[in-house]
Amino acid sequence: MQVITSISALRAALAGRRVAFVPTMGSLHAGHISLMEAARRHPAADTVVASIFVNRLQFGPNEDFDRYPRSLEADCAKLAAAGVDFVFAPDEAELYPEPQAYKVEPPAMGNEIEGEFRPGFFRGVCTVVLKLFNIVQPKVALFGKKDYQQLAIVHGMVRQLALPIEIVGVDTLRADDGLALSSRNLYLSPAERIEATQLHQSLCALRDAIGAGQRNFAELERSAAAALDARGWKTDYFAIRRRVDLQVPQGADDALVILAASRLGTTRLIDNLEV
Ligand code: PAF
Repeated sequence: MQVITSISALRAALAGRRVAFVPTMGSLHAGHISLMEAARRHPAADTVVASIFVNRLQFGPNEDFDRYPRSLEADCAKLAAAGVDFVFAPDEAELYPEPQAYKVEPPAMGNEIEGEFRPGFFRGVCTVVLKLFNIVQPKVALFGKKDYQQLAIVHGMVRQLALPIEIVGVDTLRADDGLALSSRNLYLSPAERIEATQLHQSLCALRDAIGAGQRNFAELERSAAAALDARGWKTDYFAIRRRVDLQVPQGADDALVILAASRLGTTRLIDNLEV
């Protein structure tokens, strides 16, 4: 495995290859590794490239850009063991040599659900992802379903901008107690780590309520948030949406997903569950 930090060296190394690409911000866990394994297995690709770059553009002024965990050496060891061929690990001066004034503006959906609580987040994500796509020129790119809305928005960007890239969503990996694996789980204290499973439990309870025929979605969302907040969480949202476009469900036949974000202490956790 080769670790490459410059755009020109990466372009030279990837010439003529059919790349499956996994963009990450590092601090890798088993969920990321399952993305690398899915990339390795993808029939359209002969080369797996992962990027590691903590993208300032997608963090708000009061968010955790500075304390976001960085562990390049350990990450590279995990990527080598997972059979990744190239790691692209640029510094900020390489990826943003001048202030990134040209940005990708996502549609209205980018200001809803997660976007309502993280203004500019999806603009930052789309901008860096498009830039990475232009550099890596992959045939396939893989994203975790844990960031369900991110996956949907990247999918829409690729479709509307006619990029010749297949976007693949990979299922969320969970700890034994159901907590979705996330780099931000590292922020949790031991007591918070035990409590953190409640987010997944709440999603399961909502899924079961919908399965049992309850259709007052606004009330279900409100009561799930209230129940979590009564345990000391600070919930941003529970949102029951159509899987196809993340809009509010209209008909009984809509396939649904429940998305949630809530803060436990200083750690903001997100998760979702397809119904
Ligand atoms: O999901 C992430 O880790 C990031 O949002 C991504 C896609 C690597 C862009 O910075």
